[in-house]
This record gives sequence, structure tokens and C-alpha cells, in this order.
Amino acid sequence: MIVSLSSVSLIGLICLSAIVSAAPFAVDSSNNFPNPSPDQIKIIEAVAHGSLPNGKPPAKVENNTLTSLRFIALNEFFEVAFYTSLIANVTQNVTGYDIKEPEAKKSLLATLTAIQAQEELHAINANNALKNFKVDPIQPCLYQFPSTSVQDAITLATTFNDVVLGTLPDIQQLLGAAGDVGLIPGVGSVIGQEDPQSALPFLTRATRDIAFSALNQAFVVKGSCPNSNTIALKIFEHLTVDAFGAKALALHPSPQNLQFSFQLPAGGAKPNWSGLSLAFVNQQNVPVKAQLSCVLVKGNTVHFEAHFPFNGTTFGSGLTFAMLVSADADFSTVPSLVQGPVVFGPALIEVN
Ligand SMILES: *[C@@H]1O[C@H](CO)[C@@H](O)[C@H](O)[C@H]1NC(C)=O
Ligand SMILES: *[C@@H]1O[C@H](CO)[C@@H](O)[C@H](O)[C@H]1NC(C)=O
Ligand SMILES: *[C@@H]1O[C@H](CO)[C@@H](O)[C@H](O)[C@H]1NC(C)=O
Ligand SMILES: *[C@@H]1O[C@H](CO)[C@@H](O)[C@H](O)[C@H]1NC(C)=O
Ligand SMILES: *[C@@H]1O[C@H](CO)[C@@H](O)[C@H](O)[C@H]1NC(C)=O
Repeated sequence: MIVSLSSVSLIGLICLSAIVSAAPFAVDSSNNFPNPSPDQIKIIEAVAHGSLPNGKPPAKVENNTLTSLRFIALNEFFEVAFYTSLIANVTQNVTGYDIKEPEAKKSLLATLTAIQAQEELHAINANNALKNFKVDPIQPCLYQFPSTSVQDAITLATTFNDVVLGTLPDIQQLLGAAGDVGLIPGVGSVIGQEDPQSALPFLTRATRDIAFSALNQAFVVKGSCPNSNTIALKIFEHLTVDAFGAKALALHPSPQNLQFSFQLPAGGAKPNWSGLSLAFVNQQNVPVKAQLSCVLVKGNTVHFEAHFPFNGTTFGSGLTFAMLVSADADFSTVPSLVQGPVVFGPALIEVN
């Protein structure tokens, strides 16, 4: 989704779990989005330089496929809100977004406006499919973003795009498993369209639960979603990677310890936290297990370190997810890793 913006050579790390207190952002509702009229859709298509698919969808799909469509709609709404906010910031010369050179500003705004319209079409397409299957379309939430400059925003877009791009193949697999193969090419066409110049030969694998958790933990304003509760996916607990350490890793990639933290559940009995391991997921490889060290409990917060075994080829380039799970979790695949009762994450680490 950010092809023309990817002039950044060094992608630092965004601490996606950071709590942000800026005013919440909504999707752009000019053109009646997310419910534009046929004439308004034509305008969005013109801005997006392309059209919504006009073929007939299958007559019916499995429930699990509806979950995927709902997730896609929710995620696309987040992307629309993100680009809406970014366009507003650049247009209004907000500090950090003030581009002095008029031609550069014009060209950036033209790119962002086209991307925003493309994300709108993706959302409309997923919701049209839901309506076709006679279930409620997903409605947009309110969002918050940790970015405070154009550079930050591009880094954030890149990181989150990597999460989504790692999830869409998972969705394709689930569509295939459900027998809803008619929807697979459409999802594939979005992967191609949203793919930036990738850092990796094989993008890091995610699952719907992992991406849904990242979206809800980092960007969705709590309680602002009219019907995201109809999306049958899990939201895991927060796991935070120390932003300074992760930034240092991005600047000087090498094997090193990273610091993490998470919150113990407030009140009630504390579960047994000593049987936990950290899992690192990178590329399409089997998750890597890391021991927790230097564990320190301060009030309700648990701090610990874990070794990030950066290699550059076999491990650690591009996006890595850290997940905190039971030591006896099934580390053989990403979906099996996050099946257990104890799952915190993802903490996102991006090294380019
Ligand atoms: C699919 O979901 C609907 C609505 O929640 C439910 O009534 C139905 O039993 C589900 N079908 C299957 C096969 O789980
Ligand atoms: C737009 O600016 C506001 C205020 O500085 C900031 O909170 C928000 O994150 C910015 N949006 C994006 C997408 O960077
Ligand atoms: C933004 O700055 C440009 C000059 O850099 C100016 O022409 C324009 O009026 C400003 N826009 C706003 C909304 O302040
Ligand atoms: C906590 O888990 C560890 C590792 O699985 C185990 O050795 C220990 O006995 C457990 N402690 C309690 C109080 O259950
Ligand atoms: C990365 O791993 C490969 C295969 O194990 C090894 O040959 C190579 O030396 C490692 N590179 C670094 C920088 O550690």
C-alpha cells in the first residue's frame, strides 16, 4: 500500500503497544463512506485508478470465511482512517508533516489520496461480500496512531502492512480449507496490490488472531467499534518490546538481548508465570524459542529479557513477531503456537 513512499531505507521500530492520548481519528466520511451511493463509488474508483470487482460472488460461504471477510473489512477501515489522518496532517502543515517543497507535497498528497481510495474499495468489497451473504457489514471504529511525523507514519504503515501481508496468505489457506476457493483470487489480488518492495524473500507469517490482536491493542479506541464483536477472533494480552532496544537493533542489527514487559492480570489469583517462553516468528520458518531471563516483577508489571538471535539470513530480517506463550506450547507452526491458553503479543520488531 505504500509503494511510492518506500524511499525510507531504514525502518526503525514502532512500539505498537504505546498508549497514545491524541484525539481519536475516524474514517473519511465524505462520499458517504462506508456506504457510498453508486455515483459516489464511481468517484472513489476514479481516484483509486481502478474499479471494484463486478463479478458474481459465490452463493454462500462457511462461517469461518465470514470471519475472514469481517477481519478484512475491519483492517481496511483502519487503513482508511490512517491515510485520512495522514492526508489531513500533510494538508494542514501539522508539525512533523509540514512539507516545504510544494511539488513534493503535491506529489505525496496525490499518492496518499489514491491509496486512501484503494483502501476504501478494499473495505467496500469485503462489506459487499458480507451483505451478499446476508450478514451485517462491519462498521468502522475510532482509531489512534502513535506516529507524530511523516517518517514515523511511513514506518508504521510499513510495519503494519507487513502484519497484514503475512495474514492474507493464512486467510487464503482457510478459504481453501473451507472450500470457499472462489474468494482466493480476490484476496491474492490485494496481496499483490498492497505489497511494498519487500525486505524478505518470504514474508513473515501471521494469523488472523495475531493481526486482529495487533490492530485492537495498538490502534482501535477501546469501546469505539459498533460491531467488531461479531468477528470471531481472539485478542491476546499485550506484550511490549522496549522501544529503545528495538530501535538500537534496527540501527545495528546483531544478536542481542531485548527487553520486554507485560501486565499481570489485575486482581484475582495470579497464574503461574514461571513456565513461559518467548517465541520469535520470522519469515516462513518454524517459531524460535527463547528463554526469559532477568525477570523482574514491579507491582503488576513483569519485565524480562530474551535473546534475539539475529542472523540476517536465517533469522531476524524484516518483520519479527514476539509472542509470550507457555513453555509447553506447540512451537511447530505459527497457528499451533497461539492455540494455548496463555498468549501475549504480538510485539513487533522490524529490521530492514
Ligand atoms: C454459522 O453461524 C450461524 C450464525 O451464528 C449459526 O446459526 C450456524 O449454526 C453456524 N454454522 C455452523 C456450521 O457452525
Ligand atoms: C496526525 O497528527 C496527529 C497530531 O499530531 C497525530 O496524533 C496522528 O498520529 C497523525 N496521524 C498520522 C497518521 O500520523
Ligand atoms: C501550509 O503551508 C503552505 C506553505 O508552505 C501554505 O501555502 C498553506 O496555506 C498552508 N496550509 C494550511 C492549511 O495552513
Ligand atoms: C510453575 O511452573 C513451573 C514450570 O512449569 C513448575 O516447575 C512449577 O512447579 C509451577 N509452580 C506452581 C506453584 O505450580
Ligand atoms: C547465519 O546462519 C548461517 C546458517 O546457519 C551461517 O552459515 C551464517 O554464518 C550465519 N550468519 C551470521 C551473521 O551469524
